[in-house]
Amino acid sequence: MTSREGRCTRPGSLPLSTPHHVAIIMDGNGRWAKSRGMPRSMGHRKGVEAVRETVRTAGESGVRYLTLFAFSSENWNRPPDEINDLMGLLRHFIRRDLAELHKENVRVRVIGDRDRLEKDILALLEEAEELTRANSAMHLVIAFNYGGRNEIARAMKRIAEAVDRGDLDASSVDESTVTSFLDTAGIPDPDLIIRTSGEKRLSNFLLWQAAYTEFVFVPCLWPDFDKAAFSNAMLEYQQRERRYGAVPERDLALGS
Ligand code: FPP
Repeated sequence: MTSREGRCTRPGSLPLSTPHHVAIIMDGNGRWAKSRGMPRSMGHRKGVEAVRETVRTAGESGVRYLTLFAFSSENWNRPPDEINDLMGLLRHFIRRDLAELHKENVRVRVIGDRDRLEKDILALLEEAEELTRANSAMHLVIAFNYGGRNEIARAMKRIAEAVDRGDLDASSVDESTVTSFLDTAGIPDPDLIIRTSGEKRLSNFLLWQAAYTEFVFVPCLWPDFDKAAFSNAMLEYQQRERRYGAVPERDLALGS
């Protein structure tokens, strides 16, 4: 059976180039720690090292936007100690790494609901955004207290308020209006979403933005995610054929 006839094989496709925007669901810190008889906090701590390596690798690979899912709007359901650990790690990361990110010309952006964040965390995140506003080598987007449904609901509320004020005509609201009211306004949709730890779920991440994103699920736990794992995920992406709901030219030519 040739690959063209095969139902489960793919016709030869043109390899894709480097994804412009890679987003990552960094999963498996807890399991990494448990398998070593360590507390979950150690898994998160090792996870920050993997964050550093991934930021470096993405930059070297020519990725222009890297979005990391650091704390979800559902993560508040974790035990208070673990929530404190995660908040502490974000504080530590910004304090320790901001100068280096700035030196490397990385622009930091934060997406998520800022309302429930402690004042000092909010101040640190705003400082990171402000300091790096003019940087252009790579955009590091930190999704913190982020949930896709929450983001869409907040956008809808702001659209309704703009209509109420008379700043926006309800009949003109279209997809591009919604896009421009999301936290990710100005950030292109992700080309590739990677999720570590073998789980195959989107978990409320970038729901609107992932309409045509390619997904790569890798078995390794987040603290083990290294340069080789990143490269493998990129290679898998590069074998995909993105159609955006259309029929490729070559199939049209065959009349199939
Ligand atoms: C999921 O693993 C991971 C998280 C909820 C947090 C991710 C956070 C970091 C990697 C560190 C902080 C990030 C930055 C940018 C400073 P899990 O705890 O759900 O693992 P499990 O499924 O094995 O329990």
